Amino acid sequence: MEPARMLLTGGSGFLGSVLAVLAAAAGYRVWATHLSNPVPDRRGVTPVKINLTDYSALTALVRESAPSVVVHTAYSMSDSAINAGCSGELAAACAALARPPFFLYTSTDLVFDGRRGMYSERDEPGPVIEYGRQKLAAERAVSAALPSAAIVRPSLIYDLRRLPLHLDFALKAQRGGRTFEFFADEFRSPVHVDDLAAMIVELCGRRLGGLWHAGGTDRVDRWWFGTHLLRALGYPASMARRGSSAASASRRPADCSLCSAKAAGQLDTALRGAVEVLGKFDGEG
Ligand SMILES: NC(=O)c1ccc[n+]([C@@H]2O[C@H](COP(=O)([O-])OP(=O)(O)OC[C@H]3O[C@@H](n4cnc5c(N)ncnc54)[C@H](OP(=O)(O)O)[C@@H]3O)[C@@H](O)[C@H]2O)c1
Repeated sequence: MEPARMLLTGGSGFLGSVLAVLAAAAGYRVWATHLSNPVPDRRGVTPVKINLTDYSALTALVRESAPSVVVHTAYSMSDSAINAGCSGELAAACAALARPPFFLYTSTDLVFDGRRGMYSERDEPGPVIEYGRQKLAAERAVSAALPSAAIVRPSLIYDLRRLPLHLDFALKAQRGGRTFEFFADEFRSPVHVDDLAAMIVELCGRRLGGLWHAGGTDRVDRWWFGTHLLRALGYPASMARRGSSAASASRRPADCSLCSAKAAGQLDTALRGAVEVLGKFDGEG
């Protein structure tokens, strides 16, 4: 029997590169898209260079790859077209196939306003930043085109092998000899990239649609998380200062921690808490 085909957007990304390898190991023939960075060179993973905001190329790719599963992780903080418009176009192109694929979209915890925290799938989103608004628009466009799609909302994603992009600013500051702040009054439920990738492969394998929150079991503040992650990756945590979001000029959601009890109750994959994974990196410096 032919292996199932997965079209994976963002195959060169922080999540996508791990997912491409895991999905290939799970037996998928993976078509992994990229734009400016390479995708992992692995058996079962075929790189496809494409600008996903070129909608005619996107539609042609969907037709040519004829996937049974689509996982859409590509996004950009600086290009709204890839977040909202592209997601709707991709879902519509999939819906137009004679046999529409199972579709999974990775959204974000930042669709919430951050006033309360520990949000479950039943809570009403209300983004207060532009990125969250674009991701919520994309969720709605995907669900309108493909009502059985899965929408996965990860919290902050991290890895013990490399610094995530959301901490890139830390390295830049260190190189420039500057310290930087981690906010002690902002809360999230960080999720290890391996756990998130495994959850996505499980959802695809079982064709489980609907909304899924994907946070680790621990709600932690960004100061705790950032300093522990720096130590885990071998950087001096002393490069970071303890800061306050409330005292900063930017308007940021304070507590977008997630309740992921639905995933814990229904899936085999466990989303480990940050304290379990990073707790052993307590200490000074
Ligand atoms: N990282 C987090 O902490 C976090 C938290 C919550 C939710 N999420 C969600 O999780 C998903 C994955 O995030 P990530 O951190 O893995 O992302 P990432 O590392 O920034 O990767 C983004 C991917 O999108 C691709 N891309 C961007 N613009 C493109 C375009 N115009 N055409 C084609 N490809 C394009 C990039 O390709 P190239 O690199 O090849 O240019 C890359 O593969 C996203 O949907 C994000 O919203 C992430």
